[in-house]
Amino acid sequence: MSETRTITLNVNGVRREETVPVRLTLADFLRHRLGLTGTHLGCEHGVCGACTILFDGRSVRSCLMLAVQADGGDITTVEGIAPDGKTLHPIQEAFRDNHGLQCGFCTPGILTTLIEFLRDNPNPTEEEVRIGLSGNLCRCTGYQNIVTATLDAARRLRAISVRSVSGSTSK
Ligand code: FES
Ligand code: FES
Repeated sequence: MSETRTITLNVNGVRREETVPVRLTLADFLRHRLGLTGTHLGCEHGVCGACTILFDGRSVRSCLMLAVQADGGDITTVEGIAPDGKTLHPIQEAFRDNHGLQCGFCTPGILTTLIEFLRDNPNPTEEEVRIGLSGNLCRCTGYQNIVTATLDAARRLRAISVRSVSGSTSK
């Protein structure tokens, strides 16, 4: 019988307490236990980036982590990046408007990677975007529209940040 542990973590703002086998990967936990199938599995050994999620604000490959290692952590999957059920995240809007995806298999991992990337580098060059996404493989797009969408997303996020700063100083 496989050994189990009880873990407590926040997933997309919801507190979860679950008893899991110690060898269960975080990706399988999210997909099979919590039903968050937006986290995709491609290679299952850390190469393709499809399983990327945010763990305590940093992008990580959930196929390379065990669920028990996430105990006490804060996780955001692609299902949790939009502010609500009717509004897309600005990065999602930019990908929609610039045709930054085709089959969409790589997209959840790219979006979660970009949340951290654009937070750390709000005004990247095209080359920096390509380097930032070099760990996320896409079989469909040839990357050009992904890069275009990312640069557009960066512009949108900068505009929001300027608006919120002006809003707070004008009070
Ligand atoms: S499925 Fe995790 S990196 Fe490919
Ligand atoms: S859009 Fe199909 S793998 Fe990237």
